[in-house]
Amino acid sequence: VLPALRRASEFSLGELAALFTASYENYFVPFQIDEPTFAYMADVFDLDLHKSLVAVEGGQPIGIANLGRRRDRTWLGGIGVVPASRRTGVGELLTRGLLDRARGAGAREMVLEVIAENTAAIALYEKLGFVRLRELEIFTLPAAEQGGAPDDVQVEVEEAIRRIAAYRDQPEPWQRDDDTIANLARRYPPPRGLVTPGAAAVYRVERGRVSLLQAAGNPSGLRAAVEGLRRMGILSAVNYPSGGSVAATMRVAGAEVSLRQLEMSLAL
Ligand SMILES: CC(C)(COP(=O)(O)OP(=O)(O)OC[C@H]1O[C@@H](n2cnc3c(N)ncnc32)[C@H](O)[C@@H]1OP(=O)(O)O)[C@@H](O)C(=O)NCCC(=O)NCCS
Repeated sequence: VLPALRRASEFSLGELAALFTASYENYFVPFQIDEPTFAYMADVFDLDLHKSLVAVEGGQPIGIANLGRRRDRTWLGGIGVVPASRRTGVGELLTRGLLDRARGAGAREMVLEVIAENTAAIALYEKLGFVRLRELEIFTLPAAEQGGAPDDVQVEVEEAIRRIAAYRDQPEPWQRDDDTIANLARRYPPPRGLVTPGAAAVYRVERGRVSLLQAAGNPSGLRAAVEGLRRMGILSAVNYPSGGSVAATMRVAGAEVSLRQLEMSLAL
């Protein structure tokens, strides 16, 4: 008997956070989602909890699938099944259910990112017709000493976004695109802008860590931006396309790749 699919909005944020955590047990990276973190994800990544799904069996929630929605695009913002119920068709049921909800809402595409070693999830997505778009990398770069002559100038975030739009040579992945930046602008700490000769960056500083949210430009401009940002703390750059200009710059600066992800897509 297949479990029932319920709307995520029928559950509290605390229940969803606990289910999300339980569904990612034994994951590739530590994964602990508390209520504020779940609320943050729902807000910043535009999760539609009325169309996101919870699988319920015998009164117990056993799996969750989050649907992000922006105009005619959707995003599989996390799917997991509690370990005891895996390999019984629940993940497939949830994903098919999410695709149905996305189509019903008039969406044309669903995208997702998956850790490159996650063969179980990749097999599920490929079974349902998702295709590989590109590889994304997650970088970490140690902070640098102050000193030297900084080549970067702080600007309004809108100015940096405008310049990045002109320099950009590849679309941004969902988690860092312009809609995400706009959502982050309503929160603390807000995204900030930085420009150098030939490049621009949008970033956020939180507890001594700098997140590179977007960056684009020529190699020397990007290098100057990265050197400017690492003066503010440890620099992390999440989901930059392999072989792209930001990935190349991070490598040259000495950054390590901590994780590789596949970006996948399905036309609805
Ligand atoms: C990925 C995950 C959601 C799959 O859920 P599931 O309920 O076990 O998957 P299903 O039983 O519905 O399997 C559907 C298909 O997925 C693939 N699959 C699932 N688990 C697999 C595994 N361990 N190895 C290989 N293929 C697997 C198969 O193609 C399977 O089809 P089949 O039964 O015809 O072979 C589950 O393993 C999980 O919760 N993992 C931890 C969280 C996670 O990695 N989420 C994805 C993050 S992007």
